Amino acid sequence: MKDVGIDAVEFRSGKLKLDLPGTFAEVKDEDPAKYTKGLGLHASSFPDAYEDIVTMAANASKRLMDRKGLEPDDIGRIDVATESAFDHSKPVSTYVAGCLEQVYDGDFRHANKGERKFACIAGTQSVDDAVNWIAADKNRGRAAIVISTDTALYERGDSGEATQGAGAVAMLIDEDPDLVTIEPEQGIGSVDETDFLKPNQQFPSVDGKRSMQVYLMRMREALEDYETQVETHPDDFAFIPFHTPFPGMVRKAAPLGYRHVARGTEVEDELAEEIGRQPRPEAFDDDEAYREALKEYTDKLTETERYQEWYSRAIEPTLDISSRVGNWYTSSVHLARLSALKHARENGIDLDHERLLVGSYGSGAQAEIHGETVQPGWEDEIAQLNVDDQLVERYDLSWEEYEQIHDVHNHEESVDVDPLTAPEKEFVFDGWGRMGERKYTYVE
Ligand code: HMG
Repeated sequence: MKDVGIDAVEFRSGKLKLDLPGTFAEVKDEDPAKYTKGLGLHASSFPDAYEDIVTMAANASKRLMDRKGLEPDDIGRIDVATESAFDHSKPVSTYVAGCLEQVYDGDFRHANKGERKFACIAGTQSVDDAVNWIAADKNRGRAAIVISTDTALYERGDSGEATQGAGAVAMLIDEDPDLVTIEPEQGIGSVDETDFLKPNQQFPSVDGKRSMQVYLMRMREALEDYETQVETHPDDFAFIPFHTPFPGMVRKAAPLGYRHVARGTEVEDELAEEIGRQPRPEAFDDDEAYREALKEYTDKLTETERYQEWYSRAIEPTLDISSRVGNWYTSSVHLARLSALKHARENGIDLDHERLLVGSYGSGAQAEIHGETVQPGWEDEIAQLNVDDQLVERYDLSWEEYEQIHDVHNHEESVDVDPLTAPEKEFVFDGWGRMGERKYTYVE
């Protein structure tokens, strides 16, 4: 079987930032610690007036193609995952290809283009599709570009407002990749749910508290399904990148995952002296008593040195980028992977041939768990990214500017404001065309 996976990655943040413990908490008259400690968020990225899901996707893809020395003929597939699309028919990938064709010789005429939708998990589904396309030998030697791109806005005043974010991740999917190979086994947990949805509306209808429960249930089912195919152990994985709507969500999911993969291993035996064995359902007369015992065990587990060491090693490093940019929906789990690899490079951690356990999630609702193996080219690849530069250079919004920018990107409003940053060497939104299409140009 061929080794297929992510050969290269690029990151594009919206160029504006909202400071959550500073600007947001002050206006909401809340304790800044609710954001930094509770949700685990410091800032959200927002697009400037000339940015949107297409510009962020095209700018990430251009940097990817330039860096890898690619021409349009090298690409046989462009897939975009988004839940912020502005057209029910014409996919964002056609706009992205149109942008790129403005700056490269050649075109994407013979590249298969599409758009995937399943809330945040669509990014991972698009990677799966591209991997399968190559594994099935349909690619004629060409690679695929998979882009996740979102402007994750909530209605003003919605409980999700603090978790907003905007940006894109472009991934080159190829044979014998430099970054990670994607292992074929995958666990799925999928149930028809109405925790978060956008029925023909831009901003989500969301039941925030319930969405967190649904996230945990589907992740558990996906893990159980994965474990029918692959034996797991907490120490098998260098990092465990999860879908991260906000880091506090992952903090809740992590002990449940650990408990699950430690069950029946020597880790459970060793912990037994300190906190007892994990409760088993057959030992309880009713479900409520079992749940209560599980909660008690999990609370004790998170206090153990063994768990805390594992969390600091395998989970905490996946949360850094997310805590600085907010929820990028379809990109979120890909930011978590990137965050971990960036941390490993900065801390001299050798990851060659180490494994990642990747937990993707999309409301509505579905989780997917799969394994990845880090490839020897990972460090050179990660060294070429400019994540910190982009984040440091973001324009810091005042509250009044945030309100205006939210309106600029609200499809129901027609607000015209001057951009807060100056575009340079990038694709920009340039108004509407005759058929109501959005138009883009490249600014030198
Ligand atoms: P909220 O009411 O703003 O916040 O809603 P809260 O009052 O629940 O506080 C949040 C946490 O901060 C709590 O921690 C507080 O205790 C803590 P917890 O008790 O849960 O561990 N806190 C503090 N900590 C320290 N010092 C303080 C302090 N004050 C409070 N002073 C909620 C939070 C998540 C509901 C809201 O942000 C929301 O609705 N978000 C949108 C939905 C969401 O993100 N759901 C996550 C799972 S669903 C998912 O991931 C899918 C999604 O990405 C969409 C897709 O798939 O497309 C959203």
